[in-house]
Amino acid sequence: MENKKDIYILGVETSCDETAAAIVKNGTEIVSNVVASQIDSHKRFGGVVPEIASRHHVEQMTIVLEEALQQSGLTFQEIDAIAVTEGPGLVGALLIGVNAAKALSFAHQIPLVGVHHIAGHIYANRLIQEIKFPALALVVSGGHTELIYMKEHGEFEVIGQTLDDAAGEAYDKVARTMGLPYPGGPQIDKLAQKGEASIPLPRAWMEDSYNFSFSGLKSAVINTLHNASQKGISIPKEDLAASFQSSVIDVLVNKTERAAKEYEVKQILLAGGVAANQGLRQSLEQAFRNNESIELVIPPLSLCTDNAAMIAAAGTVAFEKGSRGQLDMNGQPGLPLTAF
Ligand code: KG4
Ligand code: ZN
Repeated sequence: MENKKDIYILGVETSCDETAAAIVKNGTEIVSNVVASQIDSHKRFGGVVPEIASRHHVEQMTIVLEEALQQSGLTFQEIDAIAVTEGPGLVGALLIGVNAAKALSFAHQIPLVGVHHIAGHIYANRLIQEIKFPALALVVSGGHTELIYMKEHGEFEVIGQTLDDAAGEAYDKVARTMGLPYPGGPQIDKLAQKGEASIPLPRAWMEDSYNFSFSGLKSAVINTLHNASQKGISIPKEDLAASFQSSVIDVLVNKTERAAKEYEVKQILLAGGVAANQGLRQSLEQAFRNNESIELVIPPLSLCTDNAAMIAAAGTVAFEKGSRGQLDMNGQPGLPLTAF
């Protein structure tokens, strides 16, 4: 029997504030995974400054690429394709990765594959566990909150999404109001573990739909803080964090459970930066612990936040399905999630 050749994909990710390159074997195995985070540079501004992000990407891109290749022990001749985040994201940031990938593709005559950032987040799960279809992905990041039904590899049906703020965005905005440093998600998560969810906050259930809304909750937290400060009352930060977090998680977990049942999925895939949230991980584990027909997959923290291994993992499937990018590829800030 003929042995199937191993496929090595070089992934490149620069959509936001992480410059990343990684090499993945057969879409499932990390060979090298390098991430240069810019968080410290953006902290003092309380959020990602696009212009600063682009400059850092320019400085870091070559270094990160060289390191990913060096750690893998491979040469460009052994790389089957270069997968790069084409969008969505900050246009100036995306362009750095896209242009680096195009230059390498041209110089070494290696096929190019454009990858949707969210497809990448979902495929981070395949680096942990082979995906079983149909699957349901709960995507929770700084820019996205979506429930995505996957009938097969590379097929994405968005069955619910946020109508306003993304979950991570709500975390970051609430954290900012509470005077916590950027990025606020992990800060609130830490505080929440020490607090009681004792402050009543709304939950946007939007019955009969898998859509989400977090802006009302965000406003409620801001109002609670303002009212308290006007009355000279201080609210324990831990309790406010725990209350906010439980409002977010209750809705996320409830809708995921409901969709999983209705769509009769075999797996739940957790994806995106907010998947690093300890409270969310614990609640999902609890919700699916006794469910023998549904397997819950949760990537380790390092694969939840932005990285290039997930882009290479998704890129492998796209490459195998024949998807090819051309040298006129551009960064697409509003790229829709379509099938590979
Ligand atoms: O996926 P990601 O790294 O970048 C985007 O594609 O948006 O997600 C970043 C988001 C930020 O909003 C950050 O606050 C949030 O993920 N985040 C968390 C946690 N770690 C990161 N949110 C809640 N709890 C966490 N532990
Ligand atoms: Zn992301």
